[in-house]
Amino acid sequence: MRLVIATGNAHKTEEIRIMLGDLIDEVSDLRAHPEISPPEETGTTFEENAAIKALEVSAALGPESMVLSDDSGLEVDALHGAPGVYSARYAGKAATDVDNRRKLLDEITRAGARGKARSARFRCVMVLARGGNKLGVFEGAVEGIIANEEKGEGGFGYDSLFIPENYCETFGQLPAEVKNSLSHRARALEQVRKALPGHLHA
Ligand code: IMP
Repeated sequence: MRLVIATGNAHKTEEIRIMLGDLIDEVSDLRAHPEISPPEETGTTFEENAAIKALEVSAALGPESMVLSDDSGLEVDALHGAPGVYSARYAGKAATDVDNRRKLLDEITRAGARGKARSARFRCVMVLARGGNKLGVFEGAVEGIIANEEKGEGGFGYDSLFIPENYCETFGQLPAEVKNSLSHRARALEQVRKALPGHLHA
């Protein structure tokens, strides 16, 4: 059984490969399937978007592949949960990670949030599917605060702005192993790890 991650984001696939690689031999993503166009994320919750991606891609690939989707994003309390499901396109449809981070810092400054008022969390919902059928929904979150300025070169997205609870450095500064041990995706993947063997041998 092969596992296809319903994403074109190499960073996400790598994080997932590191965490599930011992359970499954072949982990690929949509970059290996150019015939499948990435589904449009029209949902208003992480779970809706994760389900859209997993169901569309697994229906297209057929029952030989297990498909795992991930929908994730950053919720900032001072911004009433924004950017949330719009994290990837916060500064506009064609926004880069740099644009999105700049907008986040601008908005949080405008909101006058300082210190603990800069609380936030990364949230991740994963859906496992096969042949167009949903097999399971898995969730994870990590609490933290938004730094005053970008720090660190590692990771992607908002990593250089997010300081996880109990740490002083951003996800962009912390070693990948540390991020991978406590991230929202790691926590959702712990649940996937528990459920996967039952589905692989079903
Ligand atoms: P998705 O690909 O629709 O799930 O969009 C997720 C967006 O949320 C990404 O483009 C990032 O902006 C942000 N995001 C999700 N997970 C992470 C992470 O682990 N680090 C930094 N940013 C993340």
